[in-house]
Amino acid sequence: MAVREILEIGHPTLAARAQEVEVEAIGTPEVQGWIDDLIDTMRAANGAGIAANQVGIPYRLFTVEVRGDNPRYPYKPPIPLTILINPTITFLSDETFENYEGCLSVPNLRGAVTRHLEVSVSGYDRDGTHRSFDVRGYSAGTFQHENDHLDGILFPHRVTDSRTFCSWSAFSAFRQETFADRVRQLVERWGA
Ligand code: NI
Repeated sequence: MAVREILEIGHPTLAARAQEVEVEAIGTPEVQGWIDDLIDTMRAANGAGIAANQVGIPYRLFTVEVRGDNPRYPYKPPIPLTILINPTITFLSDETFENYEGCLSVPNLRGAVTRHLEVSVSGYDRDGTHRSFDVRGYSAGTFQHENDHLDGILFPHRVTDSRTFCSWSAFSAFRQETFADRVRQLVERWGA
């Protein structure tokens, strides 16, 4: 287990499409070690999630976890630790919301991205079991963000109004309160 270096925007491994993991290889020490490193790195950086290619592993897996005390995202509803290998996401409705995103690979920048409110997520867990579940509400954005990484897409690529870009300190000072109110409304409606 190790905390790995996080690659930053502009690195070619972040921009490339990651490869599928061979399902038979999920139980190997190599893949299990990747998963442990992703969890350690995500937690050390206070991320809400991390994709393997963000730490230089060019394969399709990511982890997501939001604990109640995350200093980067104090308004985020909790998400239990989730590991997804070869994930797919499908949209369950056309309804969208505006999500103010940040990324461990895009230091000190936030911006508004349109995300779907209801998604179905599937993929293999670390035991090699295939799982499917639905995610509704604010948390759906987190899964879409991580899945985008595996296709070489970072949140700035999805920002349609470049005037929404801001630093983390400017976000806290000027935009977080309004945004957190909208998140609370979403969480009240959807429970996540
Ligand atoms: Ni990210």
